[in-house]
Amino acid sequence: MSKTLIAPSMLASDFGNLQRDTEMVNKSEADWFHIDIMDGVFVPNISYGMPVLQAITKHATKTIDVHLMIIDPDRYIKDFANLGADILTVHYEACTHLHRTIQAIKAEGMKAGVALNPHTSVELLKDVINDIDLVLIMSVNPGFGGQSFIENTYNKVKRLKEIITENNAETLIEVDGGVTDKNAAELAHAGADALVAGSFVFKSDDQLKTIKNLKQVANS
Ligand code: DX5
Ligand code: ZN
Repeated sequence: MSKTLIAPSMLASDFGNLQRDTEMVNKSEADWFHIDIMDGVFVPNISYGMPVLQAITKHATKTIDVHLMIIDPDRYIKDFANLGADILTVHYEACTHLHRTIQAIKAEGMKAGVALNPHTSVELLKDVINDIDLVLIMSVNPGFGGQSFIENTYNKVKRLKEIITENNAETLIEVDGGVTDKNAAELAHAGADALVAGSFVFKSDDQLKTIKNLKQVANS
């Protein structure tokens, strides 16, 4: 089994010290930078946009994992490719022509991800599972950091893992929202390949140590 990856969510970082926090992630045992883009329409919050992403990518030395919580993501696919996104994840609920969107992301040289809200069934991805590189399972309702983890996520991860195996797909499973050292091991055992952690990392006193411990727990 390959190692479970850790993706700190920069939404919880200190924007006044963005370079410092980006360099902390560079130095840490984390694997990806998780970047949450919210438009105030698809979700009831506005996070940050292109200039802030650019400020992060200027210093980041690890994979840039962009999670778009926006309507009509097709309009911005090229922009995110130009800004250095490695993985671009769109929401199932925001895409009428999901297959076309996935192809457009891949045509720009990025890995394509699809995110599912807590109420959206993993069964809905069966017909595109071989076309996508990653499924992001939301374990909170998207829009805000610091919410508590929804327990049904374990079932969704397990069922999605079965679907991936049945289809001989290589799709990664990422879990996002309310991840801590209390649920990381069970998520990894259920089949999660990557865990996003915002508040748990950035609100801790020793962020490097928290990332190291979370990675250890996830791989135990
Ligand atoms: C929520 C975002 C998450 C969020 C996670 O809509 O997609 O990535 O930043 O934050 P925590 O880990 O605090 O739940
Ligand atoms: Zn996210």
